[in-house]
Amino acid sequence: MITIDIKAERQYQVRIGADFKDEIKDVTKGRERIAFIFSEKMKDKVKNLEVGDAEPFYFAVPDSEVAKSTKTLLQLWDWLGAAGFTRSDLIVGVGGGAITDLSGFAAASWLRGIDWVAIPTTVAGMVDAAVGGKTGINSEYGKNLIGAFHSPQRVIVDLQWLETLSDRDFSAGLAEVVKCGFIRDTKILDFLKGKSLAEIRADKALTTELIERSIRVKGDVVSGDYKESFNREILNYGHTFGHAVELDSKYSLRHGECVSIGMIYVAELAYALDLISESTLLLHRELLGSLDLPTTYSASSWSALLANMKLDKKSRGNTLRFVLLGEIGQTQRVEGPDEGALIAAYEKVCQ
Ligand SMILES: NC(=O)c1ccc[n+]([C@@H]2O[C@H](COP(=O)([O-])OP(=O)(O)OC[C@H]3O[C@@H](n4cnc5c(N)ncnc54)[C@H](O)[C@@H]3O)[C@@H](O)[C@H]2O)c1
Repeated sequence: MITIDIKAERQYQVRIGADFKDEIKDVTKGRERIAFIFSEKMKDKVKNLEVGDAEPFYFAVPDSEVAKSTKTLLQLWDWLGAAGFTRSDLIVGVGGGAITDLSGFAAASWLRGIDWVAIPTTVAGMVDAAVGGKTGINSEYGKNLIGAFHSPQRVIVDLQWLETLSDRDFSAGLAEVVKCGFIRDTKILDFLKGKSLAEIRADKALTTELIERSIRVKGDVVSGDYKESFNREILNYGHTFGHAVELDSKYSLRHGECVSIGMIYVAELAYALDLISESTLLLHRELLGSLDLPTTYSASSWSALLANMKLDKKSRGNTLRFVLLGEIGQTQRVEGPDEGALIAAYEKVCQ
Protein backbone atom coordinates (compact mmCIF):
# COMPACT_ATOMS: atom_id res chain seq x y z
CA MET A 1 0.00 0.00 0.00
CA ILE A 2 1.17 3.53 -0.82
CA THR A 3 0.27 6.38 1.52
CA ILE A 4 0.34 10.01 0.39
CA ASP A 5 -0.09 12.82 2.93
CA ILE A 6 -2.08 15.85 1.85
CA LYS A 7 -1.89 19.09 3.81
CA ALA A 8 -4.89 21.37 3.72
CA GLU A 9 -6.97 22.77 6.60
CA ARG A 10 -6.04 19.41 8.14
CA GLN A 11 -3.59 16.72 7.15
CA TYR A 12 -5.05 13.53 5.75
CA GLN A 13 -3.93 10.41 3.96
CA VAL A 14 -4.69 8.98 0.56
CA ARG A 15 -4.17 5.22 0.79
CA ILE A 16 -3.54 3.67 -2.61
CA GLY A 17 -3.88 -0.07 -3.06
CA ALA A 18 -5.73 -0.39 0.23
CA ASP A 19 -8.49 -2.93 0.83
CA PHE A 20 -11.48 -0.68 1.47
CA LYS A 21 -13.09 -3.21 3.81
CA ASP A 22 -10.08 -3.16 6.17
CA GLU A 23 -9.79 0.61 5.94
CA ILE A 24 -13.44 1.05 6.83
CA LYS A 25 -12.97 -1.02 9.99
CA ASP A 26 -10.13 1.33 10.90
CA VAL A 27 -11.76 4.70 10.14
CA THR A 28 -15.03 3.83 11.85
CA LYS A 29 -13.39 2.92 15.20
CA GLY A 30 -14.84 4.92 18.07
CA ARG A 31 -17.74 6.32 16.00
CA GLU A 32 -21.38 5.78 16.91
CA ARG A 33 -23.05 6.29 13.53
CA ILE A 34 -21.80 5.90 9.98
CA ALA A 35 -23.75 7.20 6.98
CA PHE A 36 -22.86 5.39 3.77
CA ILE A 37 -23.81 7.35 0.65
CA PHE A 38 -23.61 5.36 -2.59
CA SER A 39 -25.49 4.53 -5.79
CA GLU A 40 -27.63 1.42 -6.27
CA LYS A 41 -24.74 -0.11 -8.27
CA MET A 42 -22.58 -0.20 -5.13
CA LYS A 43 -25.31 -1.50 -2.79
CA ASP A 44 -24.13 -5.10 -2.38
CA LYS A 45 -20.53 -4.17 -1.64
CA VAL A 46 -21.44 -1.37 0.76
CA LYS A 47 -24.10 -3.16 2.77
CA ASN A 48 -21.75 -5.97 3.81
CA LEU A 49 -19.09 -3.76 5.36
CA GLU A 50 -18.05 -4.33 8.97
CA VAL A 51 -18.15 -1.18 11.08
CA GLY A 52 -17.37 -2.56 14.57
CA ASP A 53 -19.66 -1.16 17.25
CA ALA A 54 -20.88 1.71 15.07
CA GLU A 55 -24.42 1.75 13.70
CA PRO A 56 -24.44 1.86 9.87
CA PHE A 57 -27.02 3.89 7.94
CA TYR A 58 -27.44 3.57 4.17
CA PHE A 59 -28.50 6.25 1.72
CA ALA A 60 -28.69 5.26 -1.95
CA VAL A 61 -28.63 8.18 -4.39
CA PRO A 62 -29.30 8.42 -8.13
CA ASP A 63 -26.39 7.79 -10.46
CA SER A 64 -23.96 10.44 -11.72
CA GLU A 65 -24.87 14.14 -11.97
CA VAL A 66 -28.44 13.53 -10.79
CA ALA A 67 -26.88 12.84 -7.38
CA LYS A 68 -25.35 16.33 -7.32
CA SER A 69 -28.68 18.16 -7.10
CA THR A 70 -30.37 20.34 -4.52
CA LYS A 71 -33.21 17.77 -4.49
CA THR A 72 -30.95 14.91 -3.41
CA LEU A 73 -29.10 17.11 -0.93
CA LEU A 74 -32.34 18.23 0.74
CA GLN A 75 -33.39 14.60 1.12
CA LEU A 76 -29.96 13.76 2.51
CA TRP A 77 -30.08 16.56 5.11
CA ASP A 78 -33.54 15.41 6.28
CA TRP A 79 -32.31 11.84 6.46
CA LEU A 80 -29.24 12.83 8.52
CA GLY A 81 -31.53 14.75 10.85
CA ALA A 82 -33.95 11.84 11.25
CA ALA A 83 -31.04 9.47 11.92
CA GLY A 84 -29.75 11.86 14.61
CA PHE A 85 -26.31 12.52 13.11
CA THR A 86 -24.06 14.47 15.49
CA ARG A 87 -20.63 16.06 15.12
CA SER A 88 -18.84 12.89 16.21
CA ASP A 89 -20.50 10.76 13.52
CA LEU A 90 -19.04 10.01 10.09
CA ILE A 91 -20.17 10.20 6.45
CA VAL A 92 -18.61 7.79 3.94
CA GLY A 93 -19.11 8.50 0.23
CA VAL A 94 -18.66 5.49 -2.04
CA GLY A 95 -18.74 6.12 -5.79
CA GLY A 96 -17.50 8.21 -8.69
CA GLY A 97 -16.74 11.91 -8.45
CA ALA A 98 -20.41 12.84 -8.43
CA ILE A 99 -21.08 10.86 -5.26
CA THR A 100 -17.93 11.88 -3.40
CA ASP A 101 -18.65 15.55 -4.29
CA LEU A 102 -22.19 15.22 -2.87
CA SER A 103 -21.07 13.28 0.22
CA GLY A 104 -18.31 15.77 0.97
CA PHE A 105 -20.70 18.69 0.66
CA ALA A 106 -23.28 16.99 2.90
CA ALA A 107 -20.47 16.56 5.45
CA ALA A 108 -19.33 20.18 4.99
CA SER A 109 -22.79 21.60 5.52
CA TRP A 110 -24.28 19.29 8.17
CA LEU A 111 -23.83 20.89 11.62
CA ARG A 112 -21.32 23.27 9.93
CA GLY A 113 -19.01 20.41 9.16
CA ILE A 114 -18.68 16.79 10.23
CA ASP A 115 -16.02 14.24 9.28
CA TRP A 116 -16.16 12.31 6.06
CA VAL A 117 -14.23 9.62 4.21
CA ALA A 118 -14.04 9.21 0.42
CA ILE A 119 -13.99 5.85 -1.31
CA PRO A 120 -13.62 6.76 -5.01
CA THR A 121 -14.64 4.02 -7.42
CA THR A 122 -13.67 5.58 -10.78
CA VAL A 123 -10.32 6.68 -12.20
CA ALA A 124 -11.54 10.31 -12.23
CA GLY A 125 -12.63 10.01 -8.61
CA MET A 126 -9.31 8.49 -7.51
CA VAL A 127 -6.97 10.91 -9.25
CA ASP A 128 -9.07 14.03 -9.02
CA ALA A 129 -12.49 14.42 -7.41
CA ALA A 130 -11.89 12.71 -4.07
CA VAL A 131 -8.53 14.40 -3.49
CA GLY A 132 -8.21 18.09 -2.71
CA GLY A 133 -11.20 18.93 -0.53
CA LYS A 134 -13.46 20.57 -3.11
CA THR A 135 -17.02 19.40 -2.47
CA GLY A 136 -20.29 20.51 -4.00
CA ILE A 137 -23.39 20.09 -6.07
CA ASN A 138 -24.75 21.61 -9.29
CA SER A 139 -27.27 24.42 -9.53
CA GLU A 140 -29.71 24.82 -12.39
CA TYR A 141 -27.47 27.73 -13.42
CA GLY A 142 -24.38 25.60 -13.81
CA LYS A 143 -22.07 22.86 -12.63
CA ASN A 144 -20.42 22.90 -9.18
CA LEU A 145 -21.84 26.35 -8.38
CA ILE A 146 -22.74 25.39 -4.79
CA GLY A 147 -19.97 24.01 -2.67
CA ALA A 148 -17.37 24.22 0.06
CA PHE A 149 -13.77 23.33 0.73
CA HIS A 150 -13.93 20.47 3.24
CA SER A 151 -11.18 17.87 3.25
CA PRO A 152 -11.96 14.24 3.99
CA GLN A 153 -10.40 12.36 6.94
CA ARG A 154 -9.05 9.80 4.52
CA VAL A 155 -9.26 8.82 0.85
CA ILE A 156 -9.32 5.07 0.30
CA VAL A 157 -8.18 4.11 -3.19
CA ASP A 158 -8.95 0.41 -3.69
CA LEU A 159 -8.14 -0.44 -7.31
CA GLN A 160 -10.47 -3.42 -7.32
CA TRP A 161 -13.33 -1.05 -8.00
CA LEU A 162 -11.92 -0.37 -11.46
CA GLU A 163 -12.61 -3.92 -12.66
CA THR A 164 -16.27 -3.14 -13.29
CA LEU A 165 -15.73 0.33 -14.75
CA SER A 166 -16.69 0.76 -18.41
CA ASP A 167 -13.93 1.46 -20.94
CA ARG A 168 -15.51 4.83 -21.58
CA ASP A 169 -15.34 5.88 -17.91
CA PHE A 170 -11.85 4.42 -17.51
CA SER A 171 -10.59 6.40 -20.47
CA ALA A 172 -12.39 9.59 -19.36
CA GLY A 173 -10.53 9.37 -16.05
CA LEU A 174 -7.22 8.96 -17.88
CA ALA A 175 -7.69 12.41 -19.42
CA GLU A 176 -6.91 13.87 -15.98
CA VAL A 177 -3.86 11.57 -15.76
CA VAL A 178 -2.60 12.91 -19.11
CA LYS A 179 -3.20 16.43 -17.81
CA CYS A 180 -1.00 15.74 -14.75
CA GLY A 181 1.71 14.56 -17.15
CA PHE A 182 1.61 17.71 -19.24
CA ILE A 183 1.50 20.17 -16.36
CA ARG A 184 3.98 18.56 -13.94
CA ASP A 185 5.04 14.92 -13.97
CA THR A 186 6.38 14.29 -17.46
CA LYS A 187 7.21 10.66 -16.58
CA ILE A 188 3.48 10.01 -16.84
CA LEU A 189 3.69 10.86 -20.54
CA ASP A 190 6.60 8.44 -20.99
CA PHE A 191 4.56 5.67 -19.37
CA LEU A 192 1.62 6.39 -21.67
CA LYS A 193 3.50 6.67 -24.95
CA GLY A 194 2.63 3.87 -27.36
CA LYS A 195 0.08 2.32 -24.98
CA SER A 196 -3.54 1.67 -25.85
CA LEU A 197 -6.39 1.85 -23.39
CA ALA A 198 -6.65 -1.96 -23.35
CA GLU A 199 -2.94 -2.34 -22.58
CA ILE A 200 -3.17 0.09 -19.68
CA ARG A 201 -6.26 -1.58 -18.26
CA ALA A 202 -4.61 -4.98 -18.45
CA ASP A 203 -1.47 -3.79 -16.64
CA LYS A 204 -2.33 -3.34 -12.97
CA ALA A 205 1.16 -2.18 -11.99
CA LEU A 206 1.05 0.52 -14.67
CA THR A 207 -2.47 1.58 -13.68
CA THR A 208 -1.34 1.88 -10.05
CA GLU A 209 1.76 3.86 -11.05
CA LEU A 210 -0.30 6.29 -13.15
CA ILE A 211 -2.88 6.77 -10.41
CA GLU A 212 -0.23 7.25 -7.73
CA ARG A 213 1.72 9.79 -9.80
CA SER A 214 -1.43 11.77 -10.63
CA ILE A 215 -2.52 11.85 -6.99
CA ARG A 216 0.97 13.08 -6.06
CA VAL A 217 0.65 15.92 -8.59
CA LYS A 218 -2.76 16.92 -7.28
CA GLY A 219 -1.72 16.49 -3.65
CA ASP A 220 1.35 18.57 -4.15
CA VAL A 221 -0.51 21.41 -5.87
CA VAL A 222 -3.42 21.55 -3.41
CA SER A 223 -1.11 21.29 -0.40
CA GLY A 224 0.50 24.53 -1.60
CA ASP A 225 -2.71 26.36 -2.57
CA TYR A 226 -5.73 24.75 -0.96
CA LYS A 227 -8.24 27.51 -1.76
CA GLU A 228 -7.17 28.14 -5.36
CA SER A 229 -5.65 31.59 -4.88
CA PHE A 230 -2.99 30.99 -7.48
CA ASN A 231 -1.18 27.76 -8.28
CA ARG A 232 -4.16 25.39 -7.99
CA GLU A 233 -5.42 26.87 -11.26
CA ILE A 234 -2.83 24.82 -13.15
CA LEU A 235 -5.00 21.78 -12.46
CA ASN A 236 -7.51 23.41 -14.79
CA TYR A 237 -5.29 22.81 -17.84
CA GLY A 238 -7.72 22.17 -20.71
CA HIS A 239 -10.73 22.89 -18.49
CA THR A 240 -11.73 26.37 -19.75
CA PHE A 241 -12.56 25.13 -23.23
CA GLY A 242 -13.49 21.72 -21.76
CA HIS A 243 -16.19 23.17 -19.49
CA ALA A 244 -17.49 25.23 -22.43
CA VAL A 245 -17.83 22.01 -24.45
CA GLU A 246 -19.43 20.21 -21.49
CA LEU A 247 -22.14 22.87 -21.30
CA ASP A 248 -22.49 23.07 -25.10
CA SER A 249 -22.94 19.29 -25.34
CA LYS A 250 -25.59 19.47 -22.60
CA TYR A 251 -23.49 17.05 -20.53
CA SER A 252 -23.79 14.29 -23.13
CA LEU A 253 -19.99 13.92 -23.03
CA ARG A 254 -18.07 12.76 -19.95
CA HIS A 255 -16.11 15.42 -18.06
CA GLY A 256 -12.81 13.73 -19.00
CA GLU A 257 -13.80 13.64 -22.68
CA CYS A 258 -14.40 17.40 -22.58
CA VAL A 259 -11.05 17.91 -20.83
CA SER A 260 -9.40 15.93 -23.62
CA ILE A 261 -10.94 18.23 -26.26
CA GLY A 262 -9.99 21.19 -24.07
CA MET A 263 -6.34 20.07 -23.88
CA ILE A 264 -6.18 19.87 -27.67
CA TYR A 265 -7.63 23.38 -27.78
CA VAL A 266 -5.04 24.86 -25.41
CA ALA A 267 -2.24 23.01 -27.21
CA GLU A 268 -3.45 24.51 -30.53
CA LEU A 269 -3.72 27.92 -28.86
CA ALA A 270 -0.21 27.69 -27.39
CA TYR A 271 1.10 26.61 -30.80
CA ALA A 272 -0.69 29.53 -32.51
CA LEU A 273 0.91 31.86 -29.93
CA ASP A 274 4.37 30.33 -30.56
CA LEU A 275 4.62 29.02 -27.00
CA ILE A 276 5.05 25.32 -27.82
CA SER A 277 6.61 23.34 -30.63
CA GLU A 278 4.72 21.33 -33.20
CA SER A 279 6.00 18.10 -31.61
CA THR A 280 4.44 19.07 -28.24
CA LEU A 281 1.18 19.81 -30.00
CA LEU A 282 1.28 16.45 -31.80
CA LEU A 283 2.07 14.64 -28.54
CA HIS A 284 -1.28 15.83 -27.17
CA ARG A 285 -3.09 14.40 -30.19
CA GLU A 286 -1.14 11.15 -30.12
CA LEU A 287 -1.56 10.38 -26.40
CA LEU A 288 -5.21 11.35 -26.09
CA GLY A 289 -6.11 9.61 -29.36
CA SER A 290 -4.46 6.35 -28.29
CA LEU A 291 -6.58 6.37 -25.12
CA ASP A 292 -9.73 6.56 -27.29
CA LEU A 293 -10.41 10.08 -26.05
CA PRO A 294 -12.03 12.63 -28.38
CA THR A 295 -9.75 15.24 -29.94
CA THR A 296 -12.32 17.07 -32.04
CA TYR A 297 -15.77 18.50 -31.35
CA SER A 298 -18.71 19.56 -33.49
CA ALA A 299 -19.63 22.79 -31.75
CA SER A 300 -22.84 24.68 -32.21
CA SER A 301 -20.76 27.84 -32.90
CA TRP A 302 -17.65 29.74 -31.83
CA SER A 303 -19.80 32.45 -30.25
CA ALA A 304 -21.63 29.85 -28.11
CA LEU A 305 -18.35 28.38 -26.88
CA LEU A 306 -16.86 31.82 -26.27
CA ALA A 307 -19.90 32.82 -24.19
CA ASN A 308 -19.51 29.60 -22.18
CA MET A 309 -15.79 30.25 -21.65
CA LYS A 310 -16.56 33.69 -20.23
CA LEU A 311 -18.52 31.96 -17.45
CA ASP A 312 -15.37 30.09 -16.43
CA LYS A 313 -14.22 30.66 -12.85
CA LYS A 314 -10.79 31.76 -14.10
CA SER A 315 -12.21 34.59 -16.24
CA ARG A 316 -12.06 38.12 -14.85
CA GLY A 317 -14.69 40.49 -16.25
CA ASN A 318 -14.60 39.89 -19.99
CA THR A 319 -10.95 38.81 -20.01
CA LEU A 320 -10.34 35.14 -20.72
CA ARG A 321 -7.46 33.50 -18.84
CA PHE A 322 -5.87 30.23 -19.87
CA VAL A 323 -3.37 27.86 -18.37
CA LEU A 324 -1.00 27.10 -21.26
CA LEU A 325 2.22 25.14 -21.55
CA GLY A 326 5.62 26.59 -22.28
CA GLU A 327 7.72 23.49 -22.12
CA ILE A 328 6.18 20.16 -21.27
CA GLY A 329 5.78 20.06 -17.48
CA GLN A 330 5.75 23.86 -17.11
CA THR A 331 2.66 26.02 -17.19
CA GLN A 332 2.01 29.70 -17.59
CA ARG A 333 -1.07 31.89 -17.36
CA VAL A 334 -2.09 33.79 -20.46
CA GLU A 335 -4.66 36.58 -20.15
CA GLY A 336 -6.76 37.92 -23.00
CA PRO A 337 -4.97 36.18 -25.88
CA ASP A 338 -5.34 37.56 -29.38
CA GLU A 339 -8.77 36.73 -30.82
CA GLY A 340 -7.21 35.54 -34.08
CA ALA A 341 -5.28 32.86 -32.15
CA LEU A 342 -8.39 31.87 -30.19
CA ILE A 343 -10.37 31.39 -33.39
CA ALA A 344 -7.50 29.63 -35.19
CA ALA A 345 -7.33 27.09 -32.35
CA TYR A 346 -11.12 26.69 -32.41
CA GLU A 347 -11.02 25.95 -36.14
CA LYS A 348 -8.41 23.21 -35.62
CA VAL A 349 -10.51 21.49 -32.94
CA CYS A 350 -13.97 22.05 -34.40
CA GLN A 351 -13.26 21.57 -38.13
N1 LIG B 1 -14.20 17.84 -6.37
C1 LIG B 1 -13.30 17.90 -7.35
O1 LIG B 1 -12.19 18.41 -7.18
C2 LIG B 1 -13.64 17.30 -8.66
C3 LIG B 1 -12.63 17.10 -9.61
C4 LIG B 1 -12.95 16.46 -10.81
C5 LIG B 1 -14.26 16.06 -11.05
N2 LIG B 1 -15.21 16.30 -10.11
C6 LIG B 1 -16.59 15.86 -10.34
O2 LIG B 1 -16.60 14.45 -10.48
C7 LIG B 1 -17.65 14.07 -11.36
C8 LIG B 1 -17.09 13.17 -12.43
O3 LIG B 1 -16.59 12.02 -11.80
P1 LIG B 1 -16.71 10.59 -12.48
O4 LIG B 1 -16.09 10.63 -13.81
O5 LIG B 1 -16.24 9.61 -11.48
O6 LIG B 1 -18.26 10.50 -12.77
P2 LIG B 1 -19.50 9.77 -12.06
O7 LIG B 1 -19.45 9.88 -10.60
O8 LIG B 1 -20.68 10.32 -12.75
O9 LIG B 1 -19.30 8.24 -12.48
C9 LIG B 1 -19.27 7.89 -13.84
C10 LIG B 1 -20.05 6.58 -14.06
O10 LIG B 1 -19.30 5.50 -13.53
C11 LIG B 1 -20.17 4.65 -12.77
N3 LIG B 1 -19.33 3.97 -11.79
C12 LIG B 1 -18.72 4.50 -10.71
N4 LIG B 1 -17.93 3.59 -10.14
C13 LIG B 1 -18.09 2.45 -10.83
C14 LIG B 1 -17.51 1.16 -10.72
N5 LIG B 1 -16.60 0.86 -9.81
N6 LIG B 1 -17.89 0.21 -11.62
C15 LIG B 1 -18.81 0.50 -12.59
N7 LIG B 1 -19.37 1.72 -12.76
C16 LIG B 1 -19.00 2.68 -11.88
C17 LIG B 1 -21.16 5.61 -12.19
O11 LIG B 1 -22.32 4.93 -11.77
C18 LIG B 1 -21.40 6.53 -13.37
O12 LIG B 1 -22.34 5.98 -14.25
C19 LIG B 1 -18.23 15.36 -11.92
O13 LIG B 1 -19.40 15.66 -11.22
C20 LIG B 1 -17.16 16.38 -11.62
O14 LIG B 1 -17.68 17.68 -11.46
C21 LIG B 1 -14.93 16.89 -8.94
